[in-house]
Amino acid sequence: MRGRAIVLFQPDRTFEKLRKKYDLKIKQDKESNFLEKWYLKPVKDEIDFTFEQLKKVKNPNTKKIITIILSRTIRSCRATTHADLATLKEPVTSTYYCGKHGKICKPLFSIFSWWVRYSKDTVKRLQEFERLRTKTYQICLRGDARNIDIFSALEKKNPEFAKLVKRQKIKGIFSSPPYVGLINYHEQHAYAYDLFGFKRNDELEIGPLYKGQGREARQSYIEGIVQVLNNSKKYLQDDYDIFLVANDKYNMYPTIAEKSGMKIVNQYKRPVLNRTEKNKSAYAEIIFHLKEK
Ligand SMILES: C[S@@+](CC[C@H](N)C(=O)[O-])C[C@H]1O[C@@H](n2cnc3c(N)ncnc32)[C@H](O)[C@@H]1O
Repeated sequence: MRGRAIVLFQPDRTFEKLRKKYDLKIKQDKESNFLEKWYLKPVKDEIDFTFEQLKKVKNPNTKKIITIILSRTIRSCRATTHADLATLKEPVTSTYYCGKHGKICKPLFSIFSWWVRYSKDTVKRLQEFERLRTKTYQICLRGDARNIDIFSALEKKNPEFAKLVKRQKIKGIFSSPPYVGLINYHEQHAYAYDLFGFKRNDELEIGPLYKGQGREARQSYIEGIVQVLNNSKKYLQDDYDIFLVANDKYNMYPTIAEKSGMKIVNQYKRPVLNRTEKNKSAYAEIIFHLKEK
């Protein structure tokens, strides 16, 4: 007969002992917003300190870069288990058994290591981009894709680029649209909305999580994406190419194409193997190639 070893996990008493010995305050007093609920007290103190220093930076470009570093840092310092990084469940305040790594893990008590890592990484990426950049314009316009006026939004940001785009029009779109009832995008980035005071537009999300994936939700999703495509057409050349990435479980994209006066000319399968949560199984997404009908 073969023996079987049983390993029992004891709650981590060392953590509790240390917490008591040094009288550490782990939780914040209030939980009224994201930054209060999802960060341990020592982490929140460091975030506040860093943000105060950031406000003093005079050079606007340096300030933007540091803002990105801080945003990346605090995303990685939320008091969640490693297994629930993409779908926050409950804040963790002590050591826990980690399903992702198969060992005892602990929440972060300081932003320092991520701050150093993202500072180096961001500078490295900027240097790399500086080497690769060509004499072209890249611009980010924020707005509701169903009705944004691309020409006038562009005009405000870069009149030279706007002139070019109005003359030549846009050749194509590559986009990863939201999918129906899957992710609450505002909540995923709530830390940044909270800290930097960005205006939230929850009600403009297409296919929001709270509406689910029922018949009505799917219908309103289809309408939403059709509106986006029809709005986009105003700014596209006649022989445009549109590539949309979707895990189209409900087979909605043929209807969407039809309702937008488009045809699906090709479908590419893209396996998604490396997900944030390692316990989630791999799946494939389709990249739909659409053209005018
Ligand atoms: C799958 S994500 C892709 C994000 C981005 N393209 C990327 O690859 O990182 C879908 C995005 O669409 C955004 N979205 C949802 N409704 C929108 C709307 N009406 N107008 C513009 N963007 C919208 C969501 O907030 C989310 O950021």
